[in-house]
Amino acid sequence: MHIVENLAAPRSWLFVPADSDKKVAKAIASDADAIIFDLEDSVSLERKQAARDLLKALGPRDGGPRWWVRINPLRTDHHKPDLEVFASADFEGVVLPKAESGADVVELSHTTGHLPIHAIVTETAASLFGLLSYREPSCPLTAMSWGAEDLSAALGATSKYDEDGGLSFTYRLARSLTLAGAVAAGVQPVDGVFADFRDEAGLTAEVRAAAREGFTGKLAIHPDQLAPINEAFTPSAADIAIAEELIAAFAANPSAGVLSINGRMLDRPHLIQAQALLARAR
Ligand code: COA
Ligand code: MG
Repeated sequence: MHIVENLAAPRSWLFVPADSDKKVAKAIASDADAIIFDLEDSVSLERKQAARDLLKALGPRDGGPRWWVRINPLRTDHHKPDLEVFASADFEGVVLPKAESGADVVELSHTTGHLPIHAIVTETAASLFGLLSYREPSCPLTAMSWGAEDLSAALGATSKYDEDGGLSFTYRLARSLTLAGAVAAGVQPVDGVFADFRDEAGLTAEVRAAAREGFTGKLAIHPDQLAPINEAFTPSAADIAIAEELIAAFAANPSAGVLSINGRMLDRPHLIQAQALLARAR
């Protein structure tokens, strides 16, 4: 099991179609913590090779966002040629779409070796039954995220939404199981994309909810989404002060199981949350 450095876990993961010079240049200069050069769904079949060639000609990376590449799924025609890009440039890791279980991640690592892997784990019907299987030993998995678009297509849905406009139960289930599955595997839980990139208020509400629930990063599809995402996953000065106060109170009372601060009951789970928050503060 690979434990991801919480400090190093990217808050924002920005997708960019790898066949677009213009968008690639913009993504490299953006405030994303990580960018994901996409060779899969956002690149047409005719443009796959042009996208690979563009990635092979990149680099060397000079600061800014960390570079990841989303390859095509295992057992598809474009998968193997995609892997060639890792020979030439400064890529930190590989994003595997349509993963169905930990066995898929292990299979990928047989070719990619120690390269860190971020798996997208809810894009097929079968994938929903594999979310506890990512706890494989000695596997370089560092992050798991979920996706609703491919899942709804795979399930034959006509929409992801309820009549009230919220995500339907199936997608909320996929999201929660990704969170728990990632934490169980000791890797970063990453929330899925918010597709309506002009709706800043909607994104802000969704990413704050994700941060409250335990996600520590979110996929993005547009540069305008980076500021709300980075902000939501950055602990505020007030949150840091509260966490420090709590840790100091337990340190001053080493034999106490439970304490009260400002009229609140605080025990071990609160201490663990405070320690995790300080680890994320940058
Ligand atoms: N990365 C880098 N730059 C991006 C970008 C991205 N993901 N999305 C948009 N931009 C750039 C545009 O090229 C444009 O640049 P310009 O000002 O130099 O013309 C600027 O940001 C503003 O873009 P905008 O006009 O608001 O959007 P658009 O209509 O050009 O693009 C999308 C909309 C959805 C096509 C585009 O955001 C996109 O390609 N997103 C990524 C899609 C993807 O990778 N999907 C796979 C994962 S789900
Ligand atoms: Mg997809």
